[in-house]
Amino acid sequence: MSRAHETVVDEQFGPRAKAYVESAVHSAGQDLDALEMLVRQAAPAHALDLGCGGGHVAYRLAKHARRVTATDLSAEMLAAVRATAAEKGLANLDTEEAPAEKLPFADGTFDLLGCRYSAHHWRDFVAGVREARRVLKQGAPAVFIDAYAPGDALYDTHVQAVELLRDTSHVRDYTLAEWALALEGAGFAIRAQRTWQLRMDYPVWIARMRTPEVSARAIRALQMAASAEVRAHFAIEPDGSFMLDIMMTEVVAA
Ligand SMILES: C[S@@+](CC[C@H](N)C(=O)[O-])C[C@H]1O[C@@H](n2cnc3c(N)ncnc32)[C@H](O)[C@@H]1O
Repeated sequence: MSRAHETVVDEQFGPRAKAYVESAVHSAGQDLDALEMLVRQAAPAHALDLGCGGGHVAYRLAKHARRVTATDLSAEMLAAVRATAAEKGLANLDTEEAPAEKLPFADGTFDLLGCRYSAHHWRDFVAGVREARRVLKQGAPAVFIDAYAPGDALYDTHVQAVELLRDTSHVRDYTLAEWALALEGAGFAIRAQRTWQLRMDYPVWIARMRTPEVSARAIRALQMAASAEVRAHFAIEPDGSFMLDIMMTEVVAA
């Protein structure tokens, strides 16, 4: 049976909502700490977490914003976020089921936007970035965090292949150049950017997405057949754990 991409995303993430709320890789990180510092300084009236997944950006935003809206394609993910927000006593957090590419908000609704580890799943990346700009007030800050593809095609092809085998809702880890083009094209001015590598613990990474055995084996086969350069770039370990390139880009709605 063929399904639309949004259905593939929903089917991948909905049943895994609890795993994403509890995921160590998602619930902590230098990027979340840096994002929280920015939000504390901005003290926004209304902030948006775009593609909120387990809600880890939204929980940080809710500590310093008057009101936070968390959006996602997956209703189950949003239910998990509401339950977790209630446990945390965050009464200023609401949720809205919506695709990033078509947000149900008026122009200039938000004073700050965070978007973390979601854009690489979007059916239309450029449209999603444009929507992010549209719903922000002029001069409002936004932070985009995601896995990115190294500019070198050799590494780019490897990372997309293993990401897609692990999760069929993967579309593309964009290069920094593709990010810059989309952000500036949408009307954002880039203020700062940092990159680092984050270790993906292979058994945990596979278990979180419940990757079918046949695809997990294919990832291991790709890794074992990879060239010395690819193995070195991703620091591929004997058990399949590896380092993924991550970027955090701070922008302002121009
Ligand atoms: C890895 S999770 C996000 C993690 C979360 N933002 C965090 O910081 O922990 C990716 C999320 O993006 C959502 N998503 C994928 N495509 C989407 C789209 N086009 N619009 C809105 N949400 C989308 C998925 O449903 C999923 O919940």
